[in-house]
Amino acid sequence: MPDTDLQQRKILVTGGAGYIGSHTSLALLEAGYEVVVLDSLVNASQEALRRVELLVGRSLTFIEGDVRDRNCLDRLFSKHDIHAVIHFAGLKAVAESVAEPLAYYDTNVNGSLTLCQAMQAAAIFRLVFSSSATVYGPDAPVPYREQMPRGWPASPYGASKAMVERVLEDLCAADSRWSVALLRYFNPIGAHESGLMGEDPRGIPNNLLPFIAQVAVGRRGRLGIFGSDYPTRDGTCERDYVHVMDLAEGHVKALEHLGSSGSYAYNLGTGQAVSVLAMVNTFQEVSGKEIPYDVSQRRQGDLAAFWADPTLAFDELGWQAQRNLDDMVRDTWRWQAANPHGYSAE
Ligand code: NAD
Ligand code: WQD
Repeated sequence: MPDTDLQQRKILVTGGAGYIGSHTSLALLEAGYEVVVLDSLVNASQEALRRVELLVGRSLTFIEGDVRDRNCLDRLFSKHDIHAVIHFAGLKAVAESVAEPLAYYDTNVNGSLTLCQAMQAAAIFRLVFSSSATVYGPDAPVPYREQMPRGWPASPYGASKAMVERVLEDLCAADSRWSVALLRYFNPIGAHESGLMGEDPRGIPNNLLPFIAQVAVGRRGRLGIFGSDYPTRDGTCERDYVHVMDLAEGHVKALEHLGSSGSYAYNLGTGQAVSVLAMVNTFQEVSGKEIPYDVSQRRQGDLAAFWADPTLAFDELGWQAQRNLDDMVRDTWRWQAANPHGYSAE
């Protein structure tokens, strides 16, 4: 049975200062939850949390710490009566994971193991895990459906997500007190409608939308489009882009659904595939800025096209993406135009 009495409860959000975590923390506060954020700030700014508090008009608790630090977790769980955990903390750059597999397995796998061990010791058994469409692997037919088996993702990043899913499934099989949602995000983009919060990657962006937005705002010269010879409608890769506030609301729904014993995987996507060229054109139309680009070689590991079948999340969680591509692009641009350097002042 879904838990109906979750509000006013404290939720631990690991990685809550990051892109998806900060937007989800805002959605949780707006839904009436209390929020404790644990974040090492390795890839985030505390300013994101200040803006969450500003927008909601309520405060959250921030703890600077590492999810691999068992003592830190034990102290946190003894001090706060945590009802459920949403686990975002992790490293997410695919190419970096190929170069530094140990760092990725340590943070993403070991961090998740340490978190679960500390949760078990504190008798906290409700968990929402940030998984990824990448767990379907390179050979899966589209659209991706949850009942399909996991594949073997090409990168250590993807493999780390598949491994943690397996660990959580085994944990649920061994102990019926656990209730776990595995949320498989497709391509999160966009920003909070206020323009005060958004994605703020460190260094050169790996992902398409932050790169386009930085070209539009004058921080980068030209976009490189990675290949135009794919077997797609216009030759560029197609992805299922989903608004970060839709994702945030998906986490609240998943949390409210926790309570049944076991692990449940859900796709969080729109079910629509958009090409790189279509994205560039939409961004130009919405922002009124020209996005100069060159077509370069394919990026190693990129798949031609994949998108979600999001039916299960609708049927079981009552979740469906509400925002369309124009909304995603407009909100990205509003954030980037108002904050050309992200959360840092210069
Ligand atoms: P992000 O980098 O903005 O957020 C991750 C957060 O975790 C950051 O705030 C970072 O400082 C923190 N962190 C990293 N290592 C930590 C550690 N050891 N201890 C404590 N905090 C730590 O990334 P995001 O886009 O918000 O992604 C959040 C989660 O969703 C990640 O697990 C990511 O793998 C997953 N995910 C992201 C995408 C995407 O495209 N953005 C897609 C699928 C899944
Ligand atoms: C989108 C499209 C590129 C940048 C990654 C991870 C995935 C998930 C989401 C975490 C692709 C093209 C990109 C650029 C380009 N993350 N592109 N020029 O690769 O679909 O997914 O982020 O779980 O696991 O793999 O997203 O935004 O990098 O790329 O042409 O400068 O844009 O080739 O077709 P991707 P992306």
